[in-house]
Formats: sequence, C-alpha cells, structure tokens
Amino acid sequence: MSSPQQTTTDGPWTVRRVLEWTTGYLKEHGSETPRLDAEVLLAHAKGCPRIHLYTSYDETLPEAVRASMREMVKRRAEAEPVAYLVGHREFFGLDFQVTRDVLIPRPDTETLVVEALEALKPLSSPRVLDIGTGSGCIAVAIAANNPVAQVTAVDASAAALDVARRNVEHHGLADRVRILESDLFAAIANSDPFDLIVSNPPYVADGEMDQLQPDIRLHEPHSALVAGPDGLNVIRSIIEQAPARLRPEGALLLECSPEQAAEIQSLFAACPQYEQIRVIEDLAGRPRVVAARRRNPD
Ligand SMILES: C[S@@+](CC[C@H](N)C(=O)[O-])C[C@H]1O[C@@H](n2cnc3c(N)ncnc32)[C@H](O)[C@@H]1O
Repeated sequence: MSSPQQTTTDGPWTVRRVLEWTTGYLKEHGSETPRLDAEVLLAHAKGCPRIHLYTSYDETLPEAVRASMREMVKRRAEAEPVAYLVGHREFFGLDFQVTRDVLIPRPDTETLVVEALEALKPLSSPRVLDIGTGSGCIAVAIAANNPVAQVTAVDASAAALDVARRNVEHHGLADRVRILESDLFAAIANSDPFDLIVSNPPYVADGEMDQLQPDIRLHEPHSALVAGPDGLNVIRSIIEQAPARLRPEGALLLECSPEQAAEIQSLFAACPQYEQIRVIEDLAGRPRVVAARRRNPD
C-alpha cells in the first residue's frame, strides 16, 4: 500500500483520495468509525472545519498537510483516540480541550447533564458540586446552560484540573465555576451545603480493564476509569459522604454502567438519609444515571 505522500499513477493526492485511502487503512486497522476519523483528522491537518472538506474534494493537498496527516493516521492505526490527536472533543454542543490527562467526554454523560439541568430549573441561585471533573465537561455544560448556577468542580488529579481550568476559561465561566484539587469531598467544607452533587466517577472493575477496547485501555488515564474489584469503590464513598454536603432535599446524580444501576439503587436504599431513588435511562434506553434526594430530617 502506498502512503498518501506522492503523486502516483492514480493521480495527485486530493482531499477525496486521501479520505478514501485513510478510510480503508483505518478500517483495516480496527477503527469502528474510519470515515469519520479520516475526515476529522484531515480537517485538523488542513486547519478547516470538517464541512469544508465536502466542497474541496478535488483540491490537491500540500506536502505539509500530508505529512501531518501521515503522522496522525499512523498513531490512529495504533488505537490512539482521535480526540487526543486533534486535542479537543465536542460535548453537549460545546468544544472541550482534551489531553491524555483527562477522560475523553462521552455522549452517555450528556444524560447526566440533562438531568442536572432539570433538577436545577426551579432554583434561583443553585450551588452545584461536580466530583471527578476531568476535562470539566459536566461542570462547564451545567454552568453554560444555567446562568445562575455556581459550580465547584473537584478532581484528585492536578493535571486534569489544569485542563478543566483552561476549558472553564475558554467558555468564559471562571466567575461561576471554581476548580479545586480534592480527593472526593476532602477539601469541601460541610458548612455550605450543595443543592446538587453530580459525578461521573471511575466505575470499571479492576478485572474488566483487560476487556476494554484498546483506544481506552492503552490511552485513557486508568485513574479515571478503574474503581476496585466491582468498580463501585468510588460510588460507595460518594453515596456515604454526600449527605453531609447536601442540603435537605438536595439531589445526588451518579453516572454508572447499565449493569451497575440495580446494585447502586440498593446502596442508596441501604442509606436512610436518601429518598426518591430512581434510575434514568440514556438515549439508547440503558440505565445510565442513578439519582436520589437527601431526606429532609424534619
Ligand atoms: C470517569 S472520569 C470523568 C471525567 C469527566 N467528569 C467526564 O465526565 O468526562 C473520572 C474522574 O474522576 C477523577 N477521580 C478519580 N478518583 C478520584 C477521587 N478519589 N477524588 C476526586 N476525583 C477522582 C479522575 O481523575 C477522573 O478525572
């Protein structure tokens, strides 16, 4: 197979030809979305929006673009996620910078954001806590869509928080999203309770790591993914410690894998401080978020 760098008997390396070649190559190397990957990488190499490729199919690509493309395609063929190669990912209609220090935001997590925004609707100046903020995608999506929300975003990883801080600043939300290094609630005072606590915590079981796709297993930070023998270590701690930081009737929303939802409902049910425990499904109809409210002690 020739590389997309020279003019060959098939003619010059146009946008169309590079896309076709790259799509075939990435398909052979295990990508499940080879055409989309090829388009996103080429748009990045050319420095143009992806949609512009459709109106420049016959344009011959300069050597600098082809060189950049060759390097990215090689890495993509080794299962490096496209988001890390191009340095950003869209989430909830917003653009987020991502590096290898943070989990790549997933569409599944948008279910949690929709539910959070719904819970905040009746409140006039709600206080929100996002545990394990990573890129800051949940905190930023909430603050960007609720102009009166005050959000505290914590993570145990200082490197992840640098990325979150840049995303908060990029979206002009530094006055309403506070970034804090904290092991779960360790740096959070009990004195000023939250109306809503949200988290997409690590929830992969230690033993399941080997079964994950290579994109995830080889490239995303393990500290963002794994959480003990059944994947529930972090979720258990959050359920245990959240009531002390929630105002009465305040809500806790936890993202989980569909297989964990029933067990998480039981963990909530075993804790008398919670009521109104329910499971929320994602767009594919799979249980994705477990929600509960702190019982009013009166
Ligand atoms: C699954 S990622 C979620 C990232 C982001 N919120 C999202 O939805 O894309 C989990 C995050 O929790 C953080 N984390 C893991 N253990 C933690 C702990 N004990 N305290 C605070 N953050 C933790 C990880 O560093 C990681 O950024």
